[in-house]
Amino acid sequence: MSTQNAEAAKAIPYDRPVAIGADEHTAAPDLDWSRRFAARVASGGSEMTAILAVAGSQDTIKFSGGFPAPETFPVKLLKEVLADLLEHDPAGSLQYSPTEGLAASRIAVADLVASTQGSRPDPANVLVTSGGIEALQLLTRVLLEAGDSVVVEAPTYLGALMAFTGSEALVVGVSMDTDGLRVDDLETMLQRSAPRVPKLLYVIPDHQNPTGLSLSLERRQALVALCRRYGLLVVEDVAYRELGFDGQPLPSLWSLAPDVVLQIGTFSKILFPGVRLGWAIGPATVVTAMTHAKQNSDQCAGALGQAIMRRFVEGGHFPAHLASARALYAERAAAMLGALEAHMPASVEWTRPRGGFFVWLTDGAGADTRVLALEARRMKVAYVPGSPFYVDGQGADQIRLAYSGVPEEDIDEGVARLGRLLSATS
Ligand SMILES: Cc1ncc(COP(=O)(O)O)c(C=O)c1O
Repeated sequence: MSTQNAEAAKAIPYDRPVAIGADEHTAAPDLDWSRRFAARVASGGSEMTAILAVAGSQDTIKFSGGFPAPETFPVKLLKEVLADLLEHDPAGSLQYSPTEGLAASRIAVADLVASTQGSRPDPANVLVTSGGIEALQLLTRVLLEAGDSVVVEAPTYLGALMAFTGSEALVVGVSMDTDGLRVDDLETMLQRSAPRVPKLLYVIPDHQNPTGLSLSLERRQALVALCRRYGLLVVEDVAYRELGFDGQPLPSLWSLAPDVVLQIGTFSKILFPGVRLGWAIGPATVVTAMTHAKQNSDQCAGALGQAIMRRFVEGGHFPAHLASARALYAERAAAMLGALEAHMPASVEWTRPRGGFFVWLTDGAGADTRVLALEARRMKVAYVPGSPFYVDGQGADQIRLAYSGVPEEDIDEGVARLGRLLSATS
């Protein structure tokens, strides 16, 4: 370094002490990079990383990740679709794509939404995203500033909490019962905070992650009316909506109130998560701002995944594909409920999902489920303890079990191990 440059370097107003300059031969430079991390990095991430880490372990019965059953992956059809795409449209499938998504893929999303939700979004107002989680990240980038408040169901999806707390928002939970979010409690909260209105309400109305519960029809109607009255944007996450065991979903919030609802969807649970693909539909101003934000993120969702999805929609494959996925998850849910009945001590209660991937347990004896999770790993069974699904330390005695990715023959054995563990502590 020239003398001139060395002097200039010393003059840089570092905001944290870094060993450089006069003592450079005696003091070791500070190589603890974690001290340079932004404040927002401190919030969350570890539970999600742990879920993905245990996913690779072969000899553990994994009730931890909300993973779709590999048996539902449409491998045979996919081989044909891929061969056809590479034969007839290699450039379109392998090239960069427009930020908002390929025109034909946006039409395919609009068609799929029309067929499953009875209402068709304008394709010009569909944003194709790299999964549901990216849609959440884009939304937080567009809407949230440090200190803004966000309302969520308590408990709620870990990834959403990470997105919100990562943007330094103040996250407030509204309790749930067997009919989903307590809309009366939300109303009380809004009355108290008036005239200030939270920036958004995040809700998973169907077969919720982590509880498996769904919002009743009456509450759906009351919720959108309330939010319209207060000018509160509803972010509806429909990740599990098409996986109700009876195949008869309730109206989506977006279909009830497209003016106040931004819907986030994903193909991870209904097709496969190996292509990261999702969508956002809703008020045009919000979708457009999210599209602009995406230019600063990954620029575009992968064209290959978009092309595959489009072929699935155009080929009319979704109805049969979804029907067989629903049947498989219904069987696994029944096996899980039967096993819980057989093996859990009297102190434990659980939800009874009518779709989706999850059962939610509460131990009335007050087990510390974070501590027990370590013991469970030693017994070769994995689950996610309840507290990470809340922002305020609740959930210490709760457990999320995902039955979706566990073969039926392993479900009983895994639950039996957990039953022994919880019985020993009650
Ligand atoms: C409720 C909910 N929303 C969104 C996602 C994100 O899905 P992906 O980013 O794989 O599309 C998940 C995944 O577990 C989820 O449970």
